[in-house]
Amino acid sequence: MKVIALIPAAGMGKRMGAGINKQYLLLSGTPIVARTIAVFEASPLVDDIYVITPEAEIPFCREQVVAAHCFTKIRAIVPGGAERQHSVLNGLRAVRDAAADDVVLVHDGVRPFVTQEMIANSIAAAKTADGGLVAVPVKDTVKIAADGIVCGTPQRDTLWLAQTPQTFRYGIIRNAYEQAAGEGFLGTDDSSLVERLGGKVQVVVGDYRNIKITTPEDLVLAEAFLSESNQKA
Ligand code: CTP
Ligand code: MG
Repeated sequence: MKVIALIPAAGMGKRMGAGINKQYLLLSGTPIVARTIAVFEASPLVDDIYVITPEAEIPFCREQVVAAHCFTKIRAIVPGGAERQHSVLNGLRAVRDAAADDVVLVHDGVRPFVTQEMIANSIAAAKTADGGLVAVPVKDTVKIAADGIVCGTPQRDTLWLAQTPQTFRYGIIRNAYEQAAGEGFLGTDDSSLVERLGGKVQVVVGDYRNIKITTPEDLVLAEAFLSESNQKA
């Protein structure tokens, strides 16, 4: 049984609005996606890594990310698709010699604060349930509104913010992605594709620092988290 990490990094970073795709922005001098990959490279539990990036950026990724950081577990750099779901599907289809019981962690390339503990706990969850979803409890009260009028207040202690990694057996996640593609279903995360087929996905408690770098203020937070961890080290 192998453990495979798929790192989707093929978005265009529209909400970031930087001149380059946000996964290649530098955080304290290192591209965000290189910081993310480094955590999986360092994990003794992870065997193979597949990075998914826009086709035009594959040479840049190969030279400036993979070669420049001497990563040894990268098995392929895979071209992405129009939506995250298409990118992850390309990654799943690119896995070499995949066995149904292999474990696949899907982790956003722009979440560099993933920890070894999250990786270990989500692999363990994927072995006992149909999947493991790293998530944190919602802090604020959430409202449902239609046409600007509040129409519901879900009970807060049932609400979680989904992060990544989201981790599954290869057979389960590949089947869920192929079925979604066949039916034209587009979800916003990996777990939802397994849930809709009745899969039981276990919540793995994450960390509020495991942010998805999405808008410019997230870069300020990310630099603050880095300087905090440097002070501790
Ligand atoms: N992603 C991807 N392929 C896409 C879209 C997104 O691989 N077609 C990846 C992003 O690179 C990122 C992760 O999925 O690592 C989460 O997506 P998001 O934060 O939405 O990134 P972007 O799509 O780049 O940003 P935006 O939605 O603001 O354009
Ligand atoms: Mg997006």
